[in-house]
Amino acid sequence: MSTPRISLDGLEPRSITDEQRAVAPLARSEDGTWVVLGHAEARRVVEDAEAFSSAVSRFLQVPNGLDGTEHAAVRAATDRFFAPEAMARLEPVLVRIARGLVAELLEDVPGTGTEVDAVAAIGAVFAVRAQTAWLGWPAALEPELLAWMSQNHEATRSGDLAGTAAAAERFDEIIRSVLAPRRALGSEDPGDVTAQLMRVRVALPDPDTPGAVDRLFTEEELVSVLRNWTGGDLGSIALCLGVILRELAHRPVLATRLRTGSAAEATAIIDELLRIDDPFVANRRVARCPVRIGEEEIAAGDRVLVHWTSANRDERVFGRADSVDPAAHASANLVYGAGPHACPGRPLATLELRVLVRELLAAADARPAEEPGEREIAPLGGWAHAPVVLVPRSVTG
Ligand code: HEM
Repeated sequence: MSTPRISLDGLEPRSITDEQRAVAPLARSEDGTWVVLGHAEARRVVEDAEAFSSAVSRFLQVPNGLDGTEHAAVRAATDRFFAPEAMARLEPVLVRIARGLVAELLEDVPGTGTEVDAVAAIGAVFAVRAQTAWLGWPAALEPELLAWMSQNHEATRSGDLAGTAAAAERFDEIIRSVLAPRRALGSEDPGDVTAQLMRVRVALPDPDTPGAVDRLFTEEELVSVLRNWTGGDLGSIALCLGVILRELAHRPVLATRLRTGSAAEATAIIDELLRIDDPFVANRRVARCPVRIGEEEIAAGDRVLVHWTSANRDERVFGRADSVDPAAHASANLVYGAGPHACPGRPLATLELRVLVRELLAAADARPAEEPGEREIAPLGGWAHAPVVLVPRSVTG
């Protein structure tokens, strides 16, 4: 059988990949990129970092675009920022931020409730407040970061490369503006996550010394790490919240389990809703050597797109893709990736989403809105606009 062709541009990711995956687990896009749609095949690619390199961009991407020992060194030096103790210290801060936002959303809301866009009015605002608090950045950056998110989102959605570059440049300026005062403070630094990151020592090659040395991140590397911690993830958290609240508005029994169950059960339900409608659509790789996957022969130098949204709905693993079974599906869930590049920010993303959803559900019922909403198109996923009605629980009882 010849390799099926797939066209993703401008389409809602699930509408095309569900159909295509039924034909074959791998397809090729117009430009020859392999699109990995199957679950086993996606794992095969991301777990074999020897055969599939992450160095896919001409821009510095730390750690995303690194391979081998350099990648491992950066992960070893930075994963500690997401350790359980760090998350436990952050939790009360996130609870306070979530309560504040929920109070703003429900202020003067009548008993009939209020319609809000879960992505823009809840997810994006919370993501910016949570990430700035975690990193120790000034709260006054909120309007600028929200404006940046919408500029970046529009450029990504429309495939406008100049717009994407302009958004990246603008974001780097924001990051440099938080690094500069910390440098000026020297030993008086505030000790927040950003300041701690500036003091991390990492075993990376030094331009002036042969081999790897234990050294600080350069300014360019710091900007890249912080960009990866915030830039994409503000948008991901917002899109995730849209998916979760839309589903909960239509599934009140699940919402009750999330509201009243343990933190572990709430997390498992959230992960499962994101599996069914994964808004973090895909990541790229490039083959370093010839690799055979199933019936396909991938050549050295071929570009590969690992399609998480599709792999997470693979019927061979999950049965009916839309069936909700958090416990049974947890171990195969690929929302946060797999292999050496699996998401280091998972504990933070999980905590942010769980705290926000539980604070919202404690104060309000989420109900379906009359307005249908608007789905995202590739390369994004989930909902562009996710209207839900919030009805204060003091009214519903
Ligand atoms: C909101 C939900 C999020 C989702 C669904 C998500 C998903 C993912 C996935 C699938 C990968 C694997 C990429 C690959 O294999 O190439 C990844 C990598 C990464 N994520 Fe997340 N992420 C989220 C939030 C976050 C947060 C909050 C942070 C940090 C604050 C973060 C930081 C990173 C970084 C640095 C990498 C690259 C890791 C590496 O290359 O070693 N992510 N993420």
